[in-house]
Amino acid sequence: MSSLQDIQACVFDAYGTLFDVSSPMQRRRDKIGPEADRLNMLWRQKQLEYSWLRSLMGAHADFWQLTADALDYAMAACDLNNPALRAELMELYLAILPYPETVETVTKLKSAKKRTAILSNGSLTMLTAAVNHSRLTPQLDAVLSIDDVGIYKPHPRVYQMVLDRLDVQRDQVLFVSSNAWDVAGAAHFGFQVAWCNRAGNLPEHLPGKPVAEIKRLDEVLGLLGDL
Ligand code: LAC
Repeated sequence: MSSLQDIQACVFDAYGTLFDVSSPMQRRRDKIGPEADRLNMLWRQKQLEYSWLRSLMGAHADFWQLTADALDYAMAACDLNNPALRAELMELYLAILPYPETVETVTKLKSAKKRTAILSNGSLTMLTAAVNHSRLTPQLDAVLSIDDVGIYKPHPRVYQMVLDRLDVQRDQVLFVSSNAWDVAGAAHFGFQVAWCNRAGNLPEHLPGKPVAEIKRLDEVLGLLGDL
């Protein structure tokens, strides 16, 4: 894959890509009960919808607020009125678990002298907590939060942060995301994009196509010539 020979920086989406967004729910599955999977699906769906809707409305609030609002919606939809459980799930979002291959993949990229970064809708506070908790901090050159631009992905201003902060050209960036809408946004912006399609989802019918589709993060190493 010759277009991937000149990659200088590997930039990762956070939630769903490096970190497993089902992990807070999985760790409280027993307390949540039979609606656990539905709660988790709605929580994530509403979190994303609120990010896009607030961007369109010009009514920005940070991702921590959206995550709480989305959880409130999801708990109400599942008839769960349990403030203690709500507090625990929010707390667990700060200690969200990485996928099994996350740390090793980023570590190998860093050792191979690629610049490594996160570009996420998450607030800097949330991202810092997740990165520290996974012991990823030394492996990352930058943790970029949309906090600095006040609008959510897939707005091009967010992807532009990578060029401003890492001093690279668009086509020198390999952006990796599990979220198909983020893949479209980043590819449309001009990054080379690998879609980590863990869930086997269908491609979106949007402008911006990935250069590669993988199932696990560590396949990025092979894309870059077996690092
Ligand atoms: C992120 C979420 C939205 O930007 O996946 O990390």
